[in-house]
Amino acid sequence: MKGDFSMIARVFALGLAIALAGAPAVAQDRAALIAQGQKLFTAQGCYGCHTVGKVGTPIASDLSRVGSKHKEAYLLQWLRDPATQKPTAHMPKIAMTEAEARALAAWLASLR
Ligand code: HEC
Repeated sequence: MKGDFSMIARVFALGLAIALAGAPAVAQDRAALIAQGQKLFTAQGCYGCHTVGKVGTPIASDLSRVGSKHKEAYLLQWLRDPATQKPTAHMPKIAMTEAEARALAAWLASLR
């Protein structure tokens, strides 16, 4: 019985160590993803039609608070192809990789 307990204690300690080591890394990855998304706003030409804060062109909607309007999953699907979220969408489908779409969606979702 004593052996069982120390085994459980060891597994628990290991789990705790992994959780403590992993948490800051996850937060850092998330921050990096959001920072990358912000750069893509310029690199992918979004600023040619949208504004965020004082950056961009007010042809289409201002995205400064789009994160409080739409969930990240919606934004990601919007970026893959706007027409799948809204058949009448007047935004062209923009060529980008899945990784770029994820970064942009993470950044947009953070705009509240
Ligand atoms: C050619 C102009 C144009 C470009 C470039 C463009 N958009 Fe759009 N975008 C629009 C228009 C127009 C709408 C409104 C679509 C509708 O609702 O019919 C829109 C809508 C959106 C929406 C939904 C906003 C809401 O309130 O529902 C998001 C999010 C968005 N765009 C993000 C982006 C991102 C990110 C990029 C860059 C990858 C981008 N757009 C590039 C024209 C553009």
